[in-house]
Amino acid sequence: MKLRTKDFLTFAEIDAAETRRLLDLAVQFKRRAAEGRAASADLAGRTMAMIFQKPSTRTRVSFEAGMFQLGGHAVNLPASDMQLSRGESIQDTAATLSRYVDVIMARVFEHSDIEELAAASSVPVVNGLSNSFHPCQTLADLLTIRERKGRLRGLRVCWVGDGNNVCNSLIHGCARAGMDVAVATPRRFRPMASVVDEARDSISVRQTADPSSAAAGADVVMTDTFMSIHDKDPARRRLFVPAYTVDARLMSRAADDAIFMHCLPAKRGNEVAMSVIDGPRSVVWDQAENRLHAQKALLVALAGGRGRGRGSRP
Ligand code: CP
Ligand code: NVA
Repeated sequence: MKLRTKDFLTFAEIDAAETRRLLDLAVQFKRRAAEGRAASADLAGRTMAMIFQKPSTRTRVSFEAGMFQLGGHAVNLPASDMQLSRGESIQDTAATLSRYVDVIMARVFEHSDIEELAAASSVPVVNGLSNSFHPCQTLADLLTIRERKGRLRGLRVCWVGDGNNVCNSLIHGCARAGMDVAVATPRRFRPMASVVDEARDSISVRQTADPSSAAAGADVVMTDTFMSIHDKDPARRRLFVPAYTVDARLMSRAADDAIFMHCLPAKRGNEVAMSVIDGPRSVVWDQAENRLHAQKALLVALAGGRGRGRGSRP
């Protein structure tokens, strides 16, 4: 499959049908892996540059392993090791990398950095997390919910805690998948208003300061750290713990067969109780694994196809 968008920066670039097709392809890749078969050679001869302004475990490894499984190669580029750190512009970096590689994935602080990178790159650019969005996480999360629940449309998702980058992309993803969302955050930490407004064209997005009412009857309860990489003020913790901690009592408000999700890394005792994240309703390891399969589908859809590989040029 091929996506119509060149870049994947927020999740809003893809529509409902493309989301479904990406998930279908991810399922195929996951099945092949489970059967011990190679993913495909869709990206043979292709190279991906991975720029990291911030630390990462899952994103770094799942993208590199995924690229390898598709027959391609990934180059890890901590931004601190690049000329970017000595003042080379994002535009010049993008123009240079576009002559070497077939796709660029970047994890950045300011979302405008990845927008500038995409604007100046002739090859696809994937957001591996910015302060505002984490669309690759959402793709894996939709895959995880679909495999656990057998469907997406009509389900109810509850987000508890900080209305952060993961929450913003989740709302975009729920809109594409037809899932209603209830978001419980302190008022100051609501998700981006523009994201909520856009999603409300197709789904219900309820915002409240009360986790218990947001969780009522939910099929999925999801949270994330209260201290994202870009958050510097340790006093934030006081605003969230214990009021927004997902514990057994809060999970008991959700549907009987509700699942618990967290993009990881997690701080047990802060945003989630150990009994929940390590308990029977938690699907966090499937969620982490699904980054690999969902991103393979994304990479093929963005950077696959005939005659595009730099390495296959005469
Ligand atoms: N969930 C996620 O993006 O994890 P990393 O920060 O380890 O990449
Ligand atoms: N919201 C978190 C997600 C980490 C995967 C952060 O930005 O640090």
